Amino acid sequence: MRKQLKKKILSNNKAGNMESFTNYLSKKTELIEKTLKNFLPQDASLISQVMRYAVLNGGKRLRPALVILSASLFNFKTENVLPAAAAVEFMHCYSLVHDDLPSMDNDDLRRGKPTVHKKFGSAAAILCGDALLTESFNLITKSKSKEKNINAAVKILSCYGGYKGMIDGQLEDTLETGKWNKKNKKSLEKKLNYIQMKKTAALIVAALKIGAVLSGADKKSLAALENYGEHIGCAFQIVDDVLDVYADKKLLGKKGSDLANNKLTALFLFGKDEALRRAQNHISKAKKSVEIFKKKAGLLESLADFVIKRAY
Ligand code: IPE
Ligand code: IPE
Ligand code: MG
Ligand code: MG
Ligand code: MG
Repeated sequence: MRKQLKKKILSNNKAGNMESFTNYLSKKTELIEKTLKNFLPQDASLISQVMRYAVLNGGKRLRPALVILSASLFNFKTENVLPAAAAVEFMHCYSLVHDDLPSMDNDDLRRGKPTVHKKFGSAAAILCGDALLTESFNLITKSKSKEKNINAAVKILSCYGGYKGMIDGQLEDTLETGKWNKKNKKSLEKKLNYIQMKKTAALIVAALKIGAVLSGADKKSLAALENYGEHIGCAFQIVDDVLDVYADKKLLGKKGSDLANNKLTALFLFGKDEALRRAQNHISKAKKSVEIFKKKAGLLESLADFVIKRAY
């Protein structure tokens, strides 16, 4: 049912810039799914079953596609970065499993299925997250590149996924939940931007930079990708906040819990129109920052449009 709805959306979204990235994503999805399947443990142990449940469940696979796309900017072979693409998706899936736990967002639906803790219990969900996180570092070392590039990729995953990045953002997000009020809007605006940058943009930047460093990219390109990733990451989270309330929930595959949790989100702080205006502003800045890639910037530009126009 969710699959059919997604197909319909992809075929309806052929206007303008949307076409090339949605096409790119659907062309890459099969390879990404196969790669994830191959890198997941195959045995019958409970932890392996839970890991497969947490990963093989119809995510958009945006982050692994970013690793692949980024490598292609530097004419680096896709097969060389597939382990890194899977590593970033493992890290993302772990973050979702933990994000849904009762002590965090307390969600019972993810990607159209019961969340991991609903299906297997909280202990299994915590440990599954731990296992995916740990395995992501093993996987990334299997990338094919010079040793110094692989070391750089490992550092990026650790830095942006860890306490300086995603974890910092997740904790700040959780601490604001249910506590904020609109009286000090200026400082809340700052806090919200910090949360978006850390909990969401950090891993998106990591995906882009990992593809690039494995390909031996120069510093200028890395800086441009970082800037681009920060802007599409913030826009991605703003749109996620809007979709949490306004999306077709069947398509979204999540019930939307921000209102019930009284989350500090762009939608609740600014209202829908202003939130989307801010997202659009990020998209324009993102496009500007990749102009240096000239003809090759096309896909990055259409990806930026996808982030804001997506329906799930
Ligand atoms: C959801 O990410 C979590 C956020 C960072 C907002 P996605 O919207 O990419 O989720 P999947 O991977 O497609 O399920
Ligand atoms: C989660 O943000 C970001 C992560 C690092 C997982 P959200 O809490 O808004 O993501 P959803 O809406 O549950 O997918
Ligand atoms: Mg959350
Ligand atoms: Mg959540
Ligand atoms: Mg959300």
